[in-house]
Amino acid sequence: MTDAATDVAVGGTHDVIVVGGGPGGYAAALYGASAGLDVAVVEKHKVGGTCLHAGCIPAKELLEAASVYRTVSRAGEFGVAAGEPSLDWSAVLRRKQQVIDKMMSGLSSLLGQRKVTVYAGSGSLGGSGTVEVSDADESGRTATRTLSAGAIIVASGSVPRTIAGFDVDGELVVTSDELFKIGRLPESAAVVGGGAIGCEFASMLGDLGAKVTVLEALPSILAGCDREVANTVRRSFRKRGIDVHTDVAVHGHQPLPDRSGTVVSFGDGKQVGVEMVVVAVGRRPRTEALGLEDAGVETDERGFVTVDQRCRTTVAGVWAVGDVVNSPQLAHTAFAEGMLAVRDIKGEAVEPIDYSGTPWCIYSHPEVAFAGHTEQSAGDAGFEVVTSVHRFMANGRAQILGDTEGLVKVIAEKQPDGTGGRILGVHMAGPWVTEQLGQAYLAVNWEATVNEVAGLIQPHPTMSELFGETVMSLTGRSLHG
Ligand code: NAI
Repeated sequence: MTDAATDVAVGGTHDVIVVGGGPGGYAAALYGASAGLDVAVVEKHKVGGTCLHAGCIPAKELLEAASVYRTVSRAGEFGVAAGEPSLDWSAVLRRKQQVIDKMMSGLSSLLGQRKVTVYAGSGSLGGSGTVEVSDADESGRTATRTLSAGAIIVASGSVPRTIAGFDVDGELVVTSDELFKIGRLPESAAVVGGGAIGCEFASMLGDLGAKVTVLEALPSILAGCDREVANTVRRSFRKRGIDVHTDVAVHGHQPLPDRSGTVVSFGDGKQVGVEMVVVAVGRRPRTEALGLEDAGVETDERGFVTVDQRCRTTVAGVWAVGDVVNSPQLAHTAFAEGMLAVRDIKGEAVEPIDYSGTPWCIYSHPEVAFAGHTEQSAGDAGFEVVTSVHRFMANGRAQILGDTEGLVKVIAEKQPDGTGGRILGVHMAGPWVTEQLGQAYLAVNWEATVNEVAGLIQPHPTMSELFGETVMSLTGRSLHG
């Protein structure tokens, strides 16, 4: 110890040091430890990362509150007298926090059981297999220690992107980071960006009673999704009073003098007055203060860490996984990359990840889920295709639920006789499709054919029957549709 504002100490030596304790980092740590490696994680906030604290988990928890609200509003249809639902926002936030706390405590115990050492503080590459960890205490005194390892995995994640003219103040203008903590639900909101985050928030806020306007720069919301799927969501939004403007630029906003709201300017001279603006225009990699440049780790023009198919960076002994690299920004791809990096570190044969088969799930109402090619991308890849679409309207379980919006679309390679061969893509919108994607994901990634899947029995009555029926109709024969 010295009297200086910085204390310096030598820390531990490990087989692997992971910088960042989100899904990419903790997956690498848990998997690495289960493979016999001595792993350390450096985390400046809390283990669990964006996914657990400001992303997947809180978003889906709040969407579930919206779903309960919707269900109770319609209880009378089922002969259940529940009265008009009302919302206790602080109770909603409390429950969300309880879920997060429980999951974080489970994750911390698991890391402990696997003997993963967690260092609190900011990690940066120190060169020659070292990581500097700095941690400031309440008095502002910084302690720095140097750790060393044979392998380092950078898993520092991403942060919300912002746009000019919309300074985030946590009240009038928020990103996903702030929205999960707002003290009061706004009566009206403009959501800038109609991607996954924008649509999930628009759906949640709209179902909980806010008047929502979505402003999207591209010609369609959910631009990466199948057109019919995106249109299903857009139609449902319209029916529920959520306004969607596509092909519009946002120009800025003018807060009211008392700051009780703001007026957003967009498109060709249009304006909308709202209590809150939610900016959901994508996420950028978090690479600041990591010492990447000094260590020689290259980043690309968009700031992502450059990696090869084994998640190796441009510096030997340093890997990078998760949102900090340019692959789908999803917790489950981060898991896959974390595990792949560990296998490579152990010197095992590594199969590159086929990102084209990634499962995608968006938890708006209606939900969206897909894996594999759209008709467009299959065509671009040179496939001649046949497609089949079946709608939940005809499905018994969906009618029982009273939730019949949506469809299943299957895209298969066209055979000479016009029937479907290999299943190339499955796209779904509708009730619980995020839980129905599993078999479609396997079919696409196992390169199953239409005949193979059509020969399997689907349980009745389930919503997953619709997938079976949709595949079956590509054999040239069908049951109900
Ligand atoms: P995104 O890239 O999916 O969507 C952003 C949208 O904002 C795009 O449609 C874009 O055209 C639009 N946009 C950009 N600048 C704009 C502007 N100035 N005015 C109007 N519109 C503008 O990004 P998002 O939704 O923020 O999500 C970030 C990442 O997290 C994505 O990779 C997303 O896939 C992932 N994510 C996935 C979820 C899921 O799969 N359920 C949930 C949440 C996030």
